[in-house]
Amino acid sequence: LDLPDADPFEIARQAAEQIAEKTGVERHDIALTLGSGWGKAAELLGETTATIPAQEIIGFSKPALEGHVGTLRSVLLPTGKRALVIGARTHYYEDHGVRRVVHSVRTAAAAGVKTMILTNGAGGIKETWTPGTPVLISDHINLTADSPLEGATFVDLTDLYSTRLRELARSIDSTLDEGVYCQFRGPHYETPAEVQMAKIIGGHIVGMSTALEAIAARQSGMEVLGMSLITNLAAGIQKTPLSHAEVIEAGQLAEPVISALLARIVAAI
Ligand code: 6GU
Repeated sequence: LDLPDADPFEIARQAAEQIAEKTGVERHDIALTLGSGWGKAAELLGETTATIPAQEIIGFSKPALEGHVGTLRSVLLPTGKRALVIGARTHYYEDHGVRRVVHSVRTAAAAGVKTMILTNGAGGIKETWTPGTPVLISDHINLTADSPLEGATFVDLTDLYSTRLRELARSIDSTLDEGVYCQFRGPHYETPAEVQMAKIIGGHIVGMSTALEAIAARQSGMEVLGMSLITNLAAGIQKTPLSHAEVIEAGQLAEPVISALLARIVAAI
């Protein structure tokens, strides 16, 4: 994947083939990338029929962070559909290149997935969002100055975060709010001035993932549902300093509730 001449789509096809072999499931219907705070959803979705350490699959790197579990699971949903649960995310700030960041998304597409669900833990800009609030992503602002598309590949991003899937999610929980997700490079949190910038340009959520993955998902023709767990308010909105420990703790507290919500949404897809 790191060689300039490598074809990332061919490697994704090989990864999908390995997943089919190891899970015994030829095609998956839905894929979920579980960010911090969403991990419990893996158990609540249905029956896990196979668990694979992600490093065994071509193109996947070792998990960089504690609290991020490096496994791929095949889950049989109550509806009979097959879900591929991706508990191994490569973040842009790890500096392994954008191909690795979106490899799981391209692998999901090659595995037959039509619905890509991207979740994350993120900072909130709206004061009404208390830590533990799940929100739908309505659109994004990509502040990485990078793209998963290579060469002159022009892809439309209108309605990237499917209106249909957001409405479906709201039919499960009518209180779900939504907002525009700003992907920063990280791994530092934003300054209060950067958070004000994000607010002024139309952002409501700040984080370090998802936007690049959503672009790759659209390129591969998948429908995207994005959800953020607000683990804290962003710098300057919240008056106390941010800490990774606080983010992880808020995620753990909210996990049972939001994971159950996600499982109900997936069951309705
Ligand atoms: Cl405030 N910013 C970013 N970029 N990511 C976060 C966060 C803030 N809180 C949790 N994840």
